[in-house]
Amino acid sequence: MAVISWSEMMSVGVPVLDDDHKTLVGFINLLQHSIGDPEEYVAVYSVLGALEDYCLHHFLREEKMMEAGRCPQLDQHHRTHEGFAETVRALKARYEEDQSSVRARDCLTFLNDWLVNHICTTDMNYRAWLVGHAGAKAVGETMSLADQRLDSGPTDWRRLRILVVDDNPNFCGILTAILNGVGVSSITVSHDLAAGKMALIGQPLDLLISDWHVGTESGLDLVKWLRQCPPPLCGLPVLMLSGHERMINRDLALLAGADEFMEKPVAARSLLICLSRLAAKVR
Ligand code: FEO
Repeated sequence: MAVISWSEMMSVGVPVLDDDHKTLVGFINLLQHSIGDPEEYVAVYSVLGALEDYCLHHFLREEKMMEAGRCPQLDQHHRTHEGFAETVRALKARYEEDQSSVRARDCLTFLNDWLVNHICTTDMNYRAWLVGHAGAKAVGETMSLADQRLDSGPTDWRRLRILVVDDNPNFCGILTAILNGVGVSSITVSHDLAAGKMALIGQPLDLLISDWHVGTESGLDLVKWLRQCPPPLCGLPVLMLSGHERMINRDLALLAGADEFMEKPVAARSLLICLSRLAAKVR
């Protein structure tokens, strides 16, 4: 199955909804790239989790805008959204029961057919009601996935400068897509500790996300090194991720100097809530 290229043919004529659709298509493409990856199971669950979070947010935004634009297809459109969300939830539940039962290839056909067809057919039906509708635009632009139910208040995602240190390009792509989806544009990716240290020394940063295992190196060593650096670098907030260790090792990560610890696969909303807490430390 080919990677999906965004084209103007897919535009619904409403920029904020086009941006959502581009993010969703980006997640499907990440799934495509993850086929055969040694950590494919991590990518599948992370993409499904991110898709679920973003779809629920996007569907709500779209429906609120349709309501504001008095679009007559709202009820029918809402039922279609519910059907999709239910299928994604079922895929996630199947994965949670047995990781090997849900593969990237299995998900792709459903996601590709449903999402792309939905955008190109069903979503096009609201164009006449929403394009140029100032009230609907205002409703859509005030809604943000990242600020819903977060416990540390609104986060100015657009100003955050984040370094990701992880040797798995697919997982870096998933993290980047999640962060881009809430507006983070300054994301540096390093695939080994030497490159990570260069990035830390060479540019101003607000947050570090490091994997526990970076190739044959340890992310713990990177955090220990960071904490020995002169201020203000030594105070950089750090989230450590791990796809192998159990939660019992959270203590080891925190002891090394990390501020937060999460196990892969990470859900988009949980990741954003965690990063929002860390971002509050640098405000
Ligand atoms: Fe853009 Fe109806 O989902």
